Amino acid sequence: MARRKKIYEGKAKILYEGPEPGTLIQYFKDDATAFNAEKKAVIEGKGVLNNRLSEFFMLGLQNIGVPTHFIRRLNMREQLVRQVEIIPLEVIVRNFAAGSMAKRLGMEEGTALPRPIVEFSYKNDALGDPLVPEEYIVAFGWASQQDMDDIVSIALRVNDFMSGVMHGVGIKLVDFKIEIGRIWDNDFHRLVVADEISPDSCRLWDVETGRKLDKDVFRRDLGSLTDAYTEVARRLGVLPSNVTHRPRPTLIN
Ligand code: TMP
Repeated sequence: MARRKKIYEGKAKILYEGPEPGTLIQYFKDDATAFNAEKKAVIEGKGVLNNRLSEFFMLGLQNIGVPTHFIRRLNMREQLVRQVEIIPLEVIVRNFAAGSMAKRLGMEEGTALPRPIVEFSYKNDALGDPLVPEEYIVAFGWASQQDMDDIVSIALRVNDFMSGVMHGVGIKLVDFKIEIGRIWDNDFHRLVVADEISPDSCRLWDVETGRKLDKDVFRRDLGSLTDAYTEVARRLGVLPSNVTHRPRPTLIN
C-alpha cells in the first residue's frame, strides 16, 4: 500500500489524509486505555468492532437528521470522514449516575437521574480532562454561547436516539461521551458529531442482568472486552450472530 500521511494519532485511532481535500481516513486501533492511559492493553478485534458500531450509530443519527462527520466505511478498520475542527470538549450525557459522577457526589451507581444531564470536560490529557462549567468554555472562547446551545441540543438528540436503539435490544444507556466538530464554509460553520460512538465511549448495561457491555469491563477487570462488544454488535444486528471472537473478514466486510 502506498505510504500515506498520518495527520494525528490518538489513543484508540489514527487519522490519515483522505483521498480528497476536506476528508480524512479514520483508522480504529485495537489499543485500549483507561485512567488517562495509565492502564493499557491491546484487545484483539476491538478496532474492527468499534469501526462497525460507530458506523451503525453515525448512520442512524444521519437518518434522523443529526449531522455527523461520517461519510462511509472503507474496510474492517477504516472509515472515510469529513475533516472537522474538533471543539476541545468531551460532551457527556448521563441518564443514570455512574463513574465519575457517582464518585463525586457519593451516589450509588445506577441511580436514575431526574432528567438527562449534559456536562463538559476540557479535552486536555496533561490536565486529565477536567470537568468545566459552560461559563469557562464561553469565557475562554473554546466555543461560543450559540455553539453551546447547539451542542446541548445535539447531545440530547443523540441521547434520545441512542437510548431508544439500545432499549430495543435490552440495553440501558447509562451515559456516553461525544465530541463535536466544526465544518467551515467561508465565514460560517456548522456543528457535526465527530470522533466515534462506540462501547469505548458509552456505559451500556444489560437491562435484565445489569451486565456491563462497555469499556468498564476493561477499566474494572470484569472479563473479556471483546465478548462484551461482540454482544452489543450481535444484538444490534451489526455482526452475524455466529461471529464471535475473531470476526472473519469475508463475513463482516
Ligand atoms: P465518567 O463517568 O468517567 O466521567 O465517564 C462518563 C462517560 O464518558 C462514560 O460513558 C465513559 C465516557 N468517557 C470517555 O469516552 N472517555 C474518557 O476519557 C472518559 C473519562 C469517559
